Amino acid sequence: MRGVIVGFGEVACHGHWPAYADSQELSIVAVVERSAERRALATSLSPGLRAYETINALAAAEAVDFIDICTPPSLHGAPMLAGLERGWHVVCEKPFLLDAGLLTRARALAEARNVAAVPVHNWKFAPIVRDATARLRRGDIGRLERVAIETERLHDFKGADPDRPNWRRDPAIAGGGILMDHGWHALYLALHWFEQDVRQVEASFHRPGPGAVEDEATVRLTFDHGEASIALTWNGAARRNSMQLVGDRGSMTIADDRLLVHTTAGDEDVRYPMALSGGSHHADWFAAFIPQLAGYFKAPASSRAAFDEAAACFGIIQRAYQAGV
Ligand SMILES: NC(=O)c1ccc[n+]([C@@H]2O[C@H](COP(=O)([O-])OP(=O)(O)OC[C@H]3O[C@@H](n4cnc5c(N)ncnc54)[C@H](O)[C@@H]3O)[C@@H](O)[C@H]2O)c1
Repeated sequence: MRGVIVGFGEVACHGHWPAYADSQELSIVAVVERSAERRALATSLSPGLRAYETINALAAAEAVDFIDICTPPSLHGAPMLAGLERGWHVVCEKPFLLDAGLLTRARALAEARNVAAVPVHNWKFAPIVRDATARLRRGDIGRLERVAIETERLHDFKGADPDRPNWRRDPAIAGGGILMDHGWHALYLALHWFEQDVRQVEASFHRPGPGAVEDEATVRLTFDHGEASIALTWNGAARRNSMQLVGDRGSMTIADDRLLVHTTAGDEDVRYPMALSGGSHHADWFAAFIPQLAGYFKAPASSRAAFDEAAACFGIIQRAYQAGV
């Protein structure tokens, strides 16, 4: 299938592009990128790759099966609707869409055109997370009761967008602060692990000044059975990720590169070559996602739950901002 990356910034260049380059199923034939500098970088990576400034210029010149949206968050909606309108499949970076009306329109269009619209929920594909998820599903720790997810960063990440490198601190582009940025990953993991709807959302935030986005967030989600707590900071003392899953018969702790398993059958300490907090773009996680993505493109009806997971993340974040102090 012939794909096009829209927005050739950091995650596109270092996360998606290398994974597609190794894929037999999905290939990238062109990029759409606003900056001339980034278009030149993209075409320098592969002699056959074409670069366009707009979706309209692309559509006039290429036969396209799917687009992969890697622009900053508030710039996901326009290419998504334009792509779906043309009957192209869409895969889009998190945070998927920042508006409930856009979510409704995108979902309806995807169904009407019989195409897939899928979020990149790539942390599910980190090897250590896959291992923990497989053990959870196998029943190793019994019924899940509590999840705790912590993300600690020394600062926010700068983008490659030459005009807006600090877009993560701009509420009009980012749609929020660290909760919208890193928190999105924590939310879909909690939903993925609990496989339940969220009943209650409580949140508190730290904002460095009036009008600024939050640089610290704590969120508590209550499910029918169990709860999740999420703590995020851009003001950390170290770069670190930890996740804990506690069940009624055991527990698992992901401490960056270690999975510590405590069950009635005994304890295990599994080491991974790469820490969860190592790197920001995770081409290997995206590569592990590609077979599922290609499956969604072949059978679009199977992709709707992935769309709904992104919509649920957005809904929880909205509730957190409304409830938050
Ligand atoms: N899933 C993950 O692990 C992960 C990691 C990093 C970033 N992301 C997400 O990926 C997206 C991009 O992040 P980034 O760090 O790569 O940002 P970035 O600023 O590095 O890249 C954005 C690119 O989009 C281009 N662009 C902006 N407006 C455009 C338009 N209208 N048309 C075409 N191109 C346009 C910019 O010039 C830039 O090259 C964000 O939504 C971010 O949250 C996800």
